[in-house]
Amino acid sequence: MTAIDARTATSDGVTFPPGFRWGAATAAYQIEGAAAEDGRTPSIWDTFSRIPGKVRNGDTGDVAADHYHRMREDVALMASLGLTDYRFSVSWPRVQPTGRGPASRKGLDFYRGLVDELLAHGIRPVLTLYHWDLPQELEDAGGWPARDTAYRFADYTALVAEALGDRVRTWTTLNEPWCAAFLGYADGVHAPGRTEPEAALRAAHHLNLGHGLAVGALRRTVQPSAEVSLTLNLAAVRPLTDGPADADAARRVDALANRVFLDPVFRGDYPEDLRADTAGLTDWSFVRDGDLRIVSRPVDSLGINYYSPTVVAAGSHPLPSPWPAAQDHVRFVPAPGPRTAMDWPVDAEGLYTLLTRLREELPDLPLLVTENGAAYDDYADPSGAVHDPERITYLRSHLEAVHRAMAVGADVRGYFLWSLLDNFEWAYGYGKRFGMVHVDYPSQRRTPKDSARWYADVAAHGRLPH
Ligand code: NOJ
Repeated sequence: MTAIDARTATSDGVTFPPGFRWGAATAAYQIEGAAAEDGRTPSIWDTFSRIPGKVRNGDTGDVAADHYHRMREDVALMASLGLTDYRFSVSWPRVQPTGRGPASRKGLDFYRGLVDELLAHGIRPVLTLYHWDLPQELEDAGGWPARDTAYRFADYTALVAEALGDRVRTWTTLNEPWCAAFLGYADGVHAPGRTEPEAALRAAHHLNLGHGLAVGALRRTVQPSAEVSLTLNLAAVRPLTDGPADADAARRVDALANRVFLDPVFRGDYPEDLRADTAGLTDWSFVRDGDLRIVSRPVDSLGINYYSPTVVAAGSHPLPSPWPAAQDHVRFVPAPGPRTAMDWPVDAEGLYTLLTRLREELPDLPLLVTENGAAYDDYADPSGAVHDPERITYLRSHLEAVHRAMAVGADVRGYFLWSLLDNFEWAYGYGKRFGMVHVDYPSQRRTPKDSARWYADVAAHGRLPH
């Protein structure tokens, strides 16, 4: 499947090619709960969420959407919505409780059950190995800034691949390593909450190395037809003006958000300008001979998570920040436009720009939009219905952007709505609802919102209705 014909935007609506994958996404810590069951040990998010002031309202993932106990009901819900694919993550401390050594049979059994249930309903599992829940014992040993963590990740990957390699076709190593490295180790707003810019750069490299080692482990173990992938939250960076100073600010952010992953993975080296910009913090000697050959092992597709654009100008911003060594050069400017409940601007053009950029730079690489969606202040009305017209507007505009990018040659194979369910939105806790299905947390009742019905219709017909 490659480019689609621009004429498919007909009076019937915007039509996607047959076989386009219509999915929804979740992550283990955000939905599973059962934090201390069946041998699971704490992850960095269990620890972090217990530190007063780190997560709004003191929320934790202890119960979340209780998916661990409601998995079958949730898969039935996906099937009722006509999803072709489901993207979920495996909890590392559930399947390998101390981050090293043998697997937990009970932990793996949960994911075996989930995958079998999905397959029984004709839904393709899309498995992410790391969605931010590092076993706490590995953080205690240094976390991602420690090189050994990359090797531990490869061992854990092999355990999951041995258990599920015969039935899962699509494997994603990391979800949003930018957040894991820079929000976790430079900004401190995500677990483990460290504010050490140099450690964040080391973490980024070790995440890249862990990715490459995991690609090797997957290739050795899973079926040859498997799709091995990586998901990045690339920044759609825009300079505020055409002037050279704002362009330089945009270049710096592009290096720190995008090329710090894209270049080693797809070109086998870190960008020169990134090394120069960060020279005051590190000499990059943590990149050892041979690492980049591992990091750049070929993948079969790239996942993109997109929510909002990033507008920058020359200037400065306060520390701590997730942008090591950029604080005296870059000012972040709120983008105009309507906002979601996260206060994130709604701007589908950013997604179009990213997809067309990737078409230019990596023309042979299939793409998946592995996350896109919006939080709004949804509630059930007295009749029990949840009306979320803003989310439908958001989804429509972004799917139109995907379609426009495909019409000019972007090889997008699928779209995954974030999220299937309302869930634990990291530092924002349960107050931000991204689900197309509403979760009433006290009762754990699931109610498809209007957007879920709208999306089910899109998935059923492969086109956007009027
Ligand atoms: C990206 C992350 O992968 C996901 O975990 C998060 O909930 C969404 N963005 C929304 O912030």
